[in-house]
Amino acid sequence: MRGLDHLPTSLTHSRPNNISFRSLLAITITFLASLCMTTLIFTTYKSVFTLPVVFSVNYDHHLPFTAASVEDLGFVNDPVFHDGGIYHDGGGGASQNGYHVQIFADSATNSSGFNFVHNSVAYFGYRDPDNPLNLYQFGLKGPEGKAVFSGIVPVGPEGNETDVGPIFAVWMLSGMTPMPDGQTILGVFPCLNEGNSTDFYNTMVQMNVTDPSTVSPGESPPFKRLGNGRLFYANEVYYGTFALEAKPDGYLYLYGSDVTGIKVARTPSTQSSIADRNQYTYYNSATKTWQKDPLTKDEEEGNIITWSREGPKGNGTRVGPNVGDVWYSNYHKTTVMLWNDAGIDATFWFSYAKTDKVEGLWSEPVAIWTPPIPPQCASFPELNFNYQGHAHPGWDPTGKTLLISYASCANFVSMARITWA
Ligand SMILES: *[C@@H]1O[C@H](CO)[C@@H](O)[C@H](O)[C@H]1NC(C)=O
Ligand SMILES: *[C@@H]1O[C@H](CO)[C@@H](O)[C@H](O)[C@H]1NC(C)=O
Ligand SMILES: *[C@@H]1O[C@H](CO)[C@@H](O)[C@H](O)[C@H]1NC(C)=O
Ligand SMILES: *[C@@H]1O[C@H](CO)[C@@H](O)[C@H](O)[C@H]1NC(C)=O
Ligand SMILES: *[C@@H]1O[C@H](CO)[C@@H](O)[C@H](O)[C@H]1NC(C)=O
Repeated sequence: MRGLDHLPTSLTHSRPNNISFRSLLAITITFLASLCMTTLIFTTYKSVFTLPVVFSVNYDHHLPFTAASVEDLGFVNDPVFHDGGIYHDGGGGASQNGYHVQIFADSATNSSGFNFVHNSVAYFGYRDPDNPLNLYQFGLKGPEGKAVFSGIVPVGPEGNETDVGPIFAVWMLSGMTPMPDGQTILGVFPCLNEGNSTDFYNTMVQMNVTDPSTVSPGESPPFKRLGNGRLFYANEVYYGTFALEAKPDGYLYLYGSDVTGIKVARTPSTQSSIADRNQYTYYNSATKTWQKDPLTKDEEEGNIITWSREGPKGNGTRVGPNVGDVWYSNYHKTTVMLWNDAGIDATFWFSYAKTDKVEGLWSEPVAIWTPPIPPQCASFPELNFNYQGHAHPGWDPTGKTLLISYASCANFVSMARITWA
């Protein structure tokens, strides 16, 4: 279970795999989506009249957030290399160099974990520019049930990581950001012992978004881990793993979350500084300064957004934001942030920067949509929930619609489209 480290990974359960299940899914999702829509319209109606409007909103801003509709699109798949489906989670990414990249954590070519790899990477909308569910999945070849990932594990081990054997994993479950070079995208991912979900540190990974025709069959576009491969340790705030953004102001911003909310750090977006934690400064909202040292994990002082909810066990445990994305929205005319909770019901929460500074005030977070759990997940009782919500703002650069994705029960990644009012 990527990112919900209290649960072990399980790819050992079979699932019903037939056409009628898919049609049933479509019908059920449509039904659930319409139910959610009713709630959504009611909630947004209420929030429009109860949320304080902080700066004068001209109609160009389209704020606060109001969704006119949310449409569930279905599972991503590679219809050429593997028409029976591919199995994975994660699903964040970024658009760059004319391509839309989606990256996955644990991936396999059937639901019992055949050809299991810790990561895989795809371009969506590459074969069919109108269909984001149509993946061009790198490193995947062969027919259903026999397809293999090869040349994968795009991120290699560093230093003594091989000490723990193949159970060492870089989980590519976080969002990525396009870099100012126009060629690469960047992400900060947790490294862990997948056998018992023990976190080590996070690591910065850069991928060159190359033309697929220049990538050898079965291989992935070039990835590299930057710096010494270790950015922040498990007892620290995992800056960058919640979200990151390279901004036109010349800084790379790394966002970290813990059980109290969200914190931010920044450094100039240059190759010589982005992977060096000593060249970052860390924002402290209590002192309103960028300080030399990272803030303390699980302490809310200095957060840019303080947000947590009661965990699913109903026993007083609090959970914070899990993973998300931050980007500038051309439609909302400000920087916006999306996240999923860490293990409640995968509701998509949104907030926006109320000024042109991301360390400045953020709007009161609003819940936009809770994705339905695919009926196929009923075969995985202990994993029967959604998680790892992500935004893919590069799909519609006008920002009028927003493509989002989420993972379910360690097997399926779905996409949905929000149309903003
Ligand atoms: C997955 O593929 C392997 C190898 O062909 C096979 O042994 C296993 O039964 C398959 N599992 C499912 C659920 O199809
Ligand atoms: C690698 O070496 C360091 C320092 O000896 C140690 O703390 C760490 O646990 C080792 N293993 C991994 C996977 O980092
Ligand atoms: C996880 O497994 C490693 C060995 O693979 C062990 O050293 C470590 O103590 C384990 N951690 C937990 C929390 O069980
Ligand atoms: C990305 O790959 C292309 C094609 O191989 C190469 O020309 C370019 O220099 C690479 N860019 C970076 C930043 O590594
Ligand atoms: C609540 O439940 C979680 C998960 O089972 C457990 O880790 C935590 O210790 C519990 N907290 C309390 C206060 O009982």
